[in-house]
Amino acid sequence: MSALSVTKRFGILTAGGDCPGLNAAIRGVCRAAHDRYGMEIIGIAKGFKGLIEEDTKVLRPDDFSGILTRGGTILGSSREKPFGPTDKDEPASEKVSAIVDTYSKLKLDCLVVIGGNGTNTTGSKLSREGLNIIGLPKTIDNDIVGTDRTFGFHSALAIGTEAIDRLHSTAQSHSRVIVIELMGNKAGWLALYAGIAGGGDVILLPEIPYDIRVIGQHLEKRAKSGKTFSIVVVAEGAMSIKEAEMDKKDRKKYRSEKGPSAAYRVANEIIEETGMETRATVLGYMQRGGIPSSSDRVLATCLGTAAVELLAAGKYGRMVALTGNDITSVDLSVPEGKVKNVPSNHYMIDTAKAVGTCIGSD
Ligand code: F6P
Repeated sequence: MSALSVTKRFGILTAGGDCPGLNAAIRGVCRAAHDRYGMEIIGIAKGFKGLIEEDTKVLRPDDFSGILTRGGTILGSSREKPFGPTDKDEPASEKVSAIVDTYSKLKLDCLVVIGGNGTNTTGSKLSREGLNIIGLPKTIDNDIVGTDRTFGFHSALAIGTEAIDRLHSTAQSHSRVIVIELMGNKAGWLALYAGIAGGGDVILLPEIPYDIRVIGQHLEKRAKSGKTFSIVVVAEGAMSIKEAEMDKKDRKKYRSEKGPSAAYRVANEIIEETGMETRATVLGYMQRGGIPSSSDRVLATCLGTAAVELLAAGKYGRMVALTGNDITSVDLSVPEGKVKNVPSNHYMIDTAKAVGTCIGSD
Protein backbone atom coordinates (compact mmCIF):
# COMPACT_ATOMS: atom_id res chain seq x y z
CA MET A 1 0.00 0.00 0.00
CA SER A 2 1.54 3.32 -1.11
CA ALA A 3 1.69 6.33 1.19
CA LEU A 4 -0.66 9.20 0.36
CA SER A 5 0.58 11.77 -2.12
CA VAL A 6 -0.83 15.00 -3.53
CA THR A 7 1.08 14.37 -6.77
CA LYS A 8 -0.16 11.34 -8.67
CA ARG A 9 1.63 11.80 -11.99
CA PHE A 10 4.65 13.92 -12.88
CA GLY A 11 7.14 14.50 -15.68
CA ILE A 12 10.91 14.47 -15.28
CA LEU A 13 13.61 15.98 -17.51
CA THR A 14 17.32 16.77 -17.50
CA ALA A 15 18.43 19.96 -19.25
CA GLY A 16 21.59 21.96 -19.94
CA GLY A 17 25.13 20.55 -19.97
CA ASP A 18 25.28 17.03 -18.59
CA CYS A 19 27.30 16.06 -15.52
CA PRO A 20 28.07 12.99 -13.43
CA GLY A 21 25.21 12.16 -11.06
CA LEU A 22 22.25 12.89 -13.34
CA ASN A 23 21.25 9.24 -13.51
CA ALA A 24 21.69 8.88 -9.75
CA ALA A 25 19.27 11.80 -9.31
CA ILE A 26 16.76 10.34 -11.81
CA ARG A 27 16.95 7.01 -9.96
CA GLY A 28 16.50 8.74 -6.58
CA VAL A 29 13.41 10.59 -7.75
CA CYS A 30 11.87 7.65 -9.60
CA ARG A 31 12.53 4.98 -6.98
CA ALA A 32 11.08 7.03 -4.12
CA ALA A 33 8.15 8.25 -6.21
CA HIS A 34 7.29 4.78 -7.46
CA ASP A 35 8.11 2.59 -4.47
CA ARG A 36 6.91 4.88 -1.68
CA TYR A 37 4.00 6.69 -3.25
CA GLY A 38 3.05 4.74 -6.37
CA MET A 39 3.26 7.86 -8.54
CA GLU A 40 3.20 7.59 -12.31
CA ILE A 41 6.32 8.94 -13.99
CA ILE A 42 6.67 10.37 -17.47
CA GLY A 43 10.24 10.65 -18.77
CA ILE A 44 10.82 13.61 -21.08
CA ALA A 45 13.58 13.32 -23.67
CA LYS A 46 16.28 15.97 -24.26
CA GLY A 47 15.25 18.59 -21.72
CA PHE A 48 12.60 21.15 -22.62
CA LYS A 49 12.89 20.06 -26.26
CA GLY A 50 11.06 16.84 -25.38
CA LEU A 51 8.10 18.84 -24.06
CA ILE A 52 8.02 21.04 -27.16
CA GLU A 53 8.23 18.02 -29.48
CA GLU A 54 6.11 15.72 -27.29
CA ASP A 55 8.94 13.22 -27.02
CA THR A 56 7.99 11.43 -23.82
CA LYS A 57 7.48 7.95 -22.41
CA VAL A 58 6.17 6.32 -19.25
CA LEU A 59 9.08 5.28 -17.00
CA ARG A 60 8.79 1.91 -15.30
CA PRO A 61 11.11 0.39 -12.66
CA ASP A 62 13.20 -1.39 -15.29
CA ASP A 63 13.97 1.98 -16.89
CA PHE A 64 15.52 3.40 -13.74
CA SER A 65 17.21 0.27 -12.47
CA GLY A 66 20.99 -0.16 -12.73
CA ILE A 67 21.69 3.48 -13.56
CA LEU A 68 23.14 4.77 -10.26
CA THR A 69 26.75 4.60 -11.41
CA ARG A 70 26.24 5.50 -15.06
CA GLY A 71 27.51 8.82 -16.46
CA GLY A 72 25.36 11.01 -18.70
CA THR A 73 21.57 10.95 -18.52
CA ILE A 74 19.19 8.21 -19.66
CA LEU A 75 16.73 10.98 -20.61
CA GLY A 76 19.14 12.93 -22.82
CA SER A 77 19.65 16.68 -22.55
CA SER A 78 19.68 19.83 -24.65
CA ARG A 79 20.32 23.52 -24.22
CA GLU A 80 16.81 24.41 -25.41
CA LYS A 81 15.76 27.71 -23.81
CA PRO A 82 12.04 28.16 -24.45
CA PHE A 83 12.04 31.74 -23.18
CA GLY A 84 14.67 32.77 -25.71
CA PRO A 85 18.46 32.69 -25.89
CA THR A 86 18.91 35.46 -23.36
CA ASP A 87 16.42 33.91 -20.93
CA LYS A 88 15.20 37.42 -20.12
CA ASP A 89 11.61 38.02 -19.13
CA GLU A 90 10.11 37.97 -22.60
CA PRO A 91 6.49 37.26 -23.50
CA ALA A 92 5.71 33.57 -23.66
CA SER A 93 6.90 32.22 -27.00
CA GLU A 94 5.30 29.51 -29.12
CA LYS A 95 7.71 27.11 -27.49
CA VAL A 96 6.41 28.02 -24.05
CA SER A 97 2.81 27.49 -25.25
CA ALA A 98 3.84 24.09 -26.64
CA ILE A 99 5.33 23.17 -23.26
CA VAL A 100 2.18 24.26 -21.42
CA ASP A 101 0.05 22.25 -23.89
CA THR A 102 2.12 19.08 -23.53
CA TYR A 103 2.06 19.40 -19.75
CA SER A 104 -1.71 19.54 -19.77
CA LYS A 105 -2.11 16.82 -22.45
CA LEU A 106 0.02 14.50 -20.35
CA LYS A 107 -2.17 15.37 -17.33
CA LEU A 108 0.88 16.10 -15.19
CA ASP A 109 0.50 17.32 -11.63
CA CYS A 110 4.08 18.57 -11.64
CA LEU A 111 7.27 18.72 -13.69
CA VAL A 112 10.64 17.88 -12.11
CA VAL A 113 13.49 19.74 -13.83
CA ILE A 114 17.07 18.68 -13.17
CA GLY A 115 19.58 21.25 -14.33
CA GLY A 116 21.77 24.26 -13.78
CA ASN A 117 21.08 27.98 -13.66
CA GLY A 118 19.34 28.08 -17.05
CA THR A 119 17.11 25.11 -16.26
CA ASN A 120 16.03 26.31 -12.82
CA THR A 121 15.47 29.80 -14.26
CA THR A 122 13.24 28.32 -16.97
CA GLY A 123 11.50 26.28 -14.27
CA SER A 124 10.79 29.41 -12.27
CA LYS A 125 9.36 31.16 -15.34
CA LEU A 126 7.22 28.13 -16.16
CA SER A 127 5.84 28.33 -12.60
CA ARG A 128 4.61 31.81 -13.48
CA GLU A 129 2.93 30.31 -16.57
CA GLY A 130 0.89 28.16 -14.17
CA LEU A 131 2.92 24.91 -14.20
CA ASN A 132 3.85 23.12 -10.99
CA ILE A 133 7.64 22.78 -10.98
CA ILE A 134 10.26 21.29 -8.69
CA GLY A 135 13.95 21.90 -9.49
CA LEU A 136 17.10 19.93 -8.68
CA PRO A 137 20.49 21.70 -8.84
CA LYS A 138 23.20 20.02 -10.93
CA THR A 139 26.33 21.38 -12.60
CA ILE A 140 30.05 20.82 -12.51
CA ASP A 141 30.37 24.60 -12.08
CA ASN A 142 28.83 24.64 -8.55
CA ASP A 143 27.42 28.09 -9.32
CA ILE A 144 23.73 27.89 -8.41
CA VAL A 145 22.42 30.40 -5.88
CA GLY A 146 20.35 28.76 -3.13
CA THR A 147 22.39 25.58 -2.62
CA ASP A 148 25.77 25.10 -0.97
CA ARG A 149 26.73 22.48 -3.53
CA THR A 150 25.49 21.05 -6.80
CA PHE A 151 25.97 17.44 -7.80
CA GLY A 152 28.47 16.92 -10.60
CA PHE A 153 30.95 19.30 -9.02
CA HIS A 154 32.69 16.75 -6.82
CA SER A 155 33.26 14.31 -9.72
CA ALA A 156 34.60 17.07 -11.99
CA LEU A 157 36.85 18.26 -9.18
CA ALA A 158 38.35 14.77 -8.85
CA ILE A 159 38.98 14.64 -12.61
CA GLY A 160 40.53 18.15 -12.62
CA THR A 161 42.73 17.34 -9.63
CA GLU A 162 43.98 14.12 -11.19
CA ALA A 163 44.83 16.01 -14.38
CA ILE A 164 46.84 18.59 -12.41
CA ASP A 165 48.64 15.80 -10.57
CA ARG A 166 49.56 14.16 -13.86
CA LEU A 167 50.75 17.42 -15.38
CA HIS A 168 53.20 17.91 -12.52
CA SER A 169 55.43 15.04 -13.60
CA THR A 170 55.57 16.00 -17.26
CA ALA A 171 56.10 19.69 -16.43
CA GLN A 172 58.92 18.72 -14.09
CA SER A 173 60.56 16.37 -16.60
CA HIS A 174 60.71 19.10 -19.23
CA SER A 175 61.21 22.11 -16.93
CA ARG A 176 58.12 23.73 -18.41
CA VAL A 177 55.25 25.91 -17.42
CA ILE A 178 51.99 24.06 -18.13
CA VAL A 179 48.71 25.94 -18.27
CA ILE A 180 45.66 23.76 -17.67
CA GLU A 181 42.17 25.03 -18.44
CA LEU A 182 39.18 23.76 -16.45
CA MET A 183 35.52 24.50 -17.18
CA GLY A 184 33.77 27.45 -15.58
CA ASN A 185 32.81 30.27 -17.86
CA LYS A 186 31.29 32.64 -15.33
CA ALA A 187 32.29 31.10 -12.00
CA GLY A 188 35.71 29.79 -11.02
CA TRP A 189 34.82 27.30 -8.27
CA LEU A 190 36.14 24.29 -10.15
CA ALA A 191 39.49 25.93 -10.96
CA LEU A 192 39.81 27.25 -7.41
CA TYR A 193 39.10 23.90 -5.72
CA ALA A 194 41.13 21.81 -8.18
CA GLY A 195 43.92 24.39 -8.13
CA ILE A 196 44.19 24.16 -4.35
CA ALA A 197 43.75 20.36 -4.32
CA GLY A 198 46.39 19.89 -7.03
CA GLY A 199 48.80 22.52 -5.69
CA GLY A 200 48.61 24.86 -8.68
CA ASP A 201 51.25 27.61 -8.61
CA VAL A 202 48.92 30.11 -10.25
CA ILE A 203 45.09 30.01 -10.25
CA LEU A 204 43.13 32.34 -12.52
CA LEU A 205 39.37 32.84 -12.13
CA PRO A 206 36.76 34.80 -14.11
CA GLU A 207 36.00 36.78 -10.95
CA ILE A 208 39.54 38.12 -10.43
CA PRO A 209 40.99 39.81 -13.54
CA TYR A 210 44.68 38.98 -13.83
CA ASP A 211 47.75 41.10 -14.51
CA ILE A 212 50.21 39.11 -16.62
CA ARG A 213 53.10 41.03 -15.05
CA VAL A 214 52.13 39.70 -11.61
CA ILE A 215 52.00 36.15 -13.00
CA GLY A 216 55.36 36.61 -14.78
CA GLN A 217 57.03 37.85 -11.59
CA HIS A 218 55.64 34.90 -9.64
CA LEU A 219 56.88 32.35 -12.18
CA GLU A 220 60.32 33.97 -12.39
CA LYS A 221 60.60 34.06 -8.61
CA ARG A 222 59.78 30.34 -8.51
CA ALA A 223 62.39 29.63 -11.19
CA LYS A 224 65.03 31.65 -9.30
CA SER A 225 64.29 29.71 -6.13
CA GLY A 226 65.17 26.49 -7.97
CA LYS A 227 61.68 25.28 -9.00
CA THR A 228 62.15 24.12 -12.56
CA PHE A 229 58.47 23.97 -13.50
CA SER A 230 55.14 25.61 -12.75
CA ILE A 231 51.47 24.68 -13.12
CA VAL A 232 48.98 27.42 -13.98
CA VAL A 233 45.31 26.50 -13.43
CA VAL A 234 42.96 28.62 -15.52
CA ALA A 235 39.15 28.72 -15.49
CA GLU A 236 37.60 28.79 -18.95
CA GLY A 237 36.27 32.31 -18.30
CA ALA A 238 39.47 33.75 -16.78
CA MET A 239 40.20 37.24 -18.05
CA SER A 240 43.01 39.76 -17.97
CA ILE A 241 42.50 43.27 -16.58
CA LYS A 242 42.52 44.49 -20.19
CA GLU A 243 39.72 42.06 -21.14
CA ALA A 244 37.72 42.97 -18.05
CA GLU A 245 37.68 46.60 -19.18
CA MET A 246 36.20 45.68 -22.59
CA ASP A 247 32.50 45.36 -23.32
CA LYS A 248 31.20 41.87 -24.12
CA LYS A 249 31.37 42.32 -27.89
CA ASP A 250 34.93 43.67 -27.96
CA ARG A 251 36.06 40.98 -25.56
CA LYS A 252 34.60 38.26 -27.77
CA LYS A 253 36.42 39.68 -30.81
CA TYR A 254 39.70 40.12 -28.92
CA ARG A 255 39.54 36.55 -27.64
CA SER A 256 38.79 35.07 -31.05
CA GLU A 257 41.98 36.70 -32.34
CA LYS A 258 44.10 35.47 -29.45
CA GLY A 259 43.65 31.70 -29.71
CA PRO A 260 41.08 28.99 -29.21
CA SER A 261 40.58 29.42 -25.45
CA ALA A 262 41.82 30.86 -22.15
CA ALA A 263 44.67 28.35 -21.66
CA TYR A 264 46.19 29.29 -25.03
CA ARG A 265 45.82 33.03 -24.41
CA VAL A 266 47.45 32.78 -21.00
CA ALA A 267 50.22 30.46 -22.26
CA ASN A 268 51.09 32.92 -25.06
CA GLU A 269 51.07 35.84 -22.64
CA ILE A 270 53.43 33.94 -20.31
CA ILE A 271 55.81 33.25 -23.20
CA GLU A 272 55.76 36.94 -24.21
CA GLU A 273 56.20 38.11 -20.63
CA THR A 274 58.87 35.66 -19.44
CA GLY A 275 60.22 33.73 -22.42
CA MET A 276 59.65 30.51 -20.45
CA GLU A 277 58.84 27.31 -22.31
CA THR A 278 55.08 27.00 -21.85
CA ARG A 279 52.40 24.54 -22.97
CA ALA A 280 48.59 24.63 -22.80
CA THR A 281 46.20 21.76 -22.00
CA VAL A 282 42.40 21.98 -22.11
CA LEU A 283 40.57 19.30 -20.14
CA GLY A 284 37.19 20.08 -21.75
CA TYR A 285 34.32 17.61 -21.76
CA MET A 286 36.34 14.97 -19.92
CA GLN A 287 35.20 16.83 -16.79
CA ARG A 288 31.54 16.15 -17.52
CA GLY A 289 31.73 12.51 -18.57
CA GLY A 290 31.98 9.17 -16.83
CA ILE A 291 30.92 7.69 -13.52
CA PRO A 292 29.90 9.98 -10.66
CA SER A 293 31.99 10.13 -7.48
CA SER A 294 30.54 8.54 -4.35
CA SER A 295 29.89 12.02 -2.94
CA ASP A 296 27.88 13.05 -6.03
CA ARG A 297 25.94 9.78 -5.97
CA VAL A 298 24.93 10.44 -2.36
CA LEU A 299 24.04 14.11 -2.95
CA ALA A 300 22.07 13.35 -6.13
CA THR A 301 20.17 10.53 -4.38
CA CYS A 302 19.36 12.68 -1.33
CA LEU A 303 18.22 15.62 -3.48
CA GLY A 304 16.16 13.25 -5.64
CA THR A 305 14.34 11.66 -2.73
CA ALA A 306 13.82 15.08 -1.08
CA ALA A 307 12.19 16.29 -4.30
CA VAL A 308 9.73 13.41 -3.98
CA GLU A 309 8.75 14.51 -0.48
CA LEU A 310 7.90 17.93 -1.97
CA LEU A 311 5.90 16.19 -4.72
CA ALA A 312 4.02 14.11 -2.15
CA ALA A 313 3.24 17.18 -0.05
CA GLY A 314 2.24 19.24 -3.09
CA LYS A 315 4.91 21.85 -2.26
CA TYR A 316 5.61 23.10 -5.73
CA GLY A 317 7.68 26.02 -7.06
CA ARG A 318 10.76 24.97 -5.10
CA MET A 319 14.33 23.83 -5.75
CA VAL A 320 15.80 21.21 -3.41
CA ALA A 321 19.15 22.25 -1.99
CA LEU A 322 22.04 21.42 0.30
CA THR A 323 22.36 23.85 3.20
CA GLY A 324 25.32 23.02 5.39
CA ASN A 325 24.82 19.32 6.03
CA ASP A 326 21.05 19.42 5.58
CA ILE A 327 18.84 18.82 2.60
CA THR A 328 16.44 21.74 2.33
CA SER A 329 14.56 23.61 -0.38
CA VAL A 330 14.30 27.21 -1.58
CA ASP A 331 11.75 29.08 -3.66
CA LEU A 332 12.52 28.61 -7.37
CA SER A 333 12.87 32.38 -7.72
CA VAL A 334 16.02 32.23 -5.55
CA PRO A 335 18.36 30.89 -8.29
CA GLU A 336 16.44 32.59 -11.11
CA GLY A 337 18.68 34.60 -13.44
CA LYS A 338 21.66 34.46 -11.08
CA VAL A 339 25.15 32.96 -10.93
CA LYS A 340 26.92 32.14 -7.67
CA ASN A 341 30.37 33.64 -8.19
CA VAL A 342 33.51 33.23 -6.10
CA PRO A 343 33.57 36.32 -3.86
CA SER A 344 36.98 38.03 -3.96
CA ASN A 345 37.10 37.85 -0.15
CA HIS A 346 36.28 34.12 -0.05
CA TYR A 347 38.41 32.26 2.49
CA MET A 348 39.74 29.92 -0.22
CA ILE A 349 41.33 32.84 -2.07
CA ASP A 350 43.22 33.68 1.09
CA THR A 351 44.04 30.00 1.60
CA ALA A 352 45.52 29.82 -1.90
CA LYS A 353 47.64 32.90 -1.24
CA ALA A 354 48.70 31.57 2.15
CA VAL A 355 50.24 28.48 0.52
CA GLY A 356 52.12 30.62 -1.98
CA THR A 357 49.73 30.43 -4.94
CA CYS A 358 49.46 33.47 -7.19
CA ILE A 359 45.89 34.39 -8.07
CA GLY A 360 46.90 36.80 -10.83
CA SER A 361 46.59 40.06 -8.97
CA ASP A 362 48.27 41.68 -5.95
O1 F6P B 1 27.41 24.32 -17.50
C1 F6P B 1 28.56 23.58 -17.35
C2 F6P B 1 29.58 23.87 -18.40
O2 F6P B 1 30.39 22.78 -18.27
C3 F6P B 1 30.35 25.18 -18.33
O3 F6P B 1 31.42 25.17 -17.42
C4 F6P B 1 30.82 25.35 -19.75
O4 F6P B 1 31.08 26.70 -20.03
C5 F6P B 1 29.66 24.84 -20.52
O5 F6P B 1 29.07 23.85 -19.71
C6 F6P B 1 29.98 24.33 -21.90
O6 F6P B 1 28.92 23.53 -22.33
P1 F6P B 1 28.41 23.22 -23.80
O7 F6P B 1 29.59 23.23 -24.72
O8 F6P B 1 27.80 21.87 -23.64
O9 F6P B 1 27.39 24.23 -24.16
